[in-house]
Amino acid sequence: MLYEDVAQRLERLIHDGTLLPGHRLPSVRHLRDRWGVSVATAQHAFRVLETRGLVEARARSGYYVRDTPRLWLPAPEPAAPRPETERLRGLSVLRETATPDLVALGTALPDPQHLPLHALGRLATRISRESPELAFGYALPPGPAPLRRVLAAHAADAGATVQPGDIITTTGVMEAMYLCLAATTRPGDRVLVQSPTYFGIIEKIQFMGRVAIEVPSTAEHGIDLGSFERLLAEGPAACVLVPNFNNPCGSVLSDQDKARVVSLCTRAKVPLIEDDIYGELVFEGQRPTSLKSFDRKGWVLSCCSVSKVLSPGLRVGWVVPGRFYDAVLDAKLAVSFASASLPQLVVAAYLESGGYDTHIRRLRTAYREQVTAVGLAVRRHFPAGTRCTRPAGGHVLWVQLPEGVDAIALYRRALRHGVGIAPGPLFSPTGRHSGFVRINCASPFDERTDGALAKLGELARADQLSPKRVARAAR
Ligand SMILES: Cc1ncc(COP(=O)(O)O)c(C=O)c1O
Repeated sequence: MLYEDVAQRLERLIHDGTLLPGHRLPSVRHLRDRWGVSVATAQHAFRVLETRGLVEARARSGYYVRDTPRLWLPAPEPAAPRPETERLRGLSVLRETATPDLVALGTALPDPQHLPLHALGRLATRISRESPELAFGYALPPGPAPLRRVLAAHAADAGATVQPGDIITTTGVMEAMYLCLAATTRPGDRVLVQSPTYFGIIEKIQFMGRVAIEVPSTAEHGIDLGSFERLLAEGPAACVLVPNFNNPCGSVLSDQDKARVVSLCTRAKVPLIEDDIYGELVFEGQRPTSLKSFDRKGWVLSCCSVSKVLSPGLRVGWVVPGRFYDAVLDAKLAVSFASASLPQLVVAAYLESGGYDTHIRRLRTAYREQVTAVGLAVRRHFPAGTRCTRPAGGHVLWVQLPEGVDAIALYRRALRHGVGIAPGPLFSPTGRHSGFVRINCASPFDERTDGALAKLGELARADQLSPKRVARAAR
């Protein structure tokens, strides 16, 4: 075999995702023994791949696949809004896509096999046996002190100085956000949100009789600061931002933009509600800062939960409401009085146990690999003209479909073929993003996922060829 043949064979393994970024290439000895090529040919092939930017040599360790932009599809582009085909609700998509016989790429749920469920179960048993009066009594707001103590310590990882007394525990981010909106806005008020943003945020604002106003956002930079400033000048009652690994587009606001957004809201006296549920899921290096870390005057209400890192079903969340502490506490008492005690004690004990750092390190690595594997599969299977985000954290991809492919029609047809996806219009209060779908990558990549993505690509290709039929199907 010639060195070019060896290089091409290895390149194919990289492009089809068999060898993922960070993986080690087979050794020279392996190629000599298994592929029957000389040491010189193998070394020459490695150097060729290195020149092509696909691999890198590491001292005394061999060659590794590089995470290069060339492996990825181009990033999504701003697209003109298309006419709305249909209004979808998040709950109906969740119900339709979270069934066991479906390949569930539509829900942004963590895969149970990545969560420390046994450790949490053991702690639940121990706490309910040793402290039944705490486990089964009311944990009155602001919530159990041991939990607030560890959460305050964790807030420092995101650059914020928070005392246990600044925190109110809640039933997930969704309750925290409800309380923040109840404390800071009235029915009919306008609330700025990113577009795209998580549909749970949009539906909550609308359910509460407030009006969600879209601030255009891109995967690269997060919100468009110019538009944000303009809309802020029109006097909204509050803003809700997901500053880190925004669901669905994965954007992260730079520190400079975070500081600017906080200072603009502070100057305008507009409460800024942040949802930092994905901040911990950075693939490499330090987790990004929270908006709270730039807050000097208390205008940021910072919400978070363990739903993405430990368990969504424990429903343990919290809020650092800044100057709105009393109003949020009143809302908590009025809405649910207290959150379930046992889950809060379990989370406190788990975070104190020291196992969290190892767990989160593993989770970040798993998500990095899975997001990459799905991104490469989308590139292999989807028609030309598809674009895709390349997030630095979280576990979802935001895929821009080629011209002529409608996300809702694709969603409906994919369901019939046993594949769940989340169509783009869910992530906008006005049905924008009909050329996008969100794909969850939280489960280990396997043949079933690859097959589901191949089916999606096939359906998208067919839709691209016959837009009229698709429009009919969507009606
Ligand atoms: C941005 C965002 N916020 C909040 C939630 C739900 O939070 P919780 O389970 O803590 O209520 C999700 C779940 O997907 C999410 O993506």
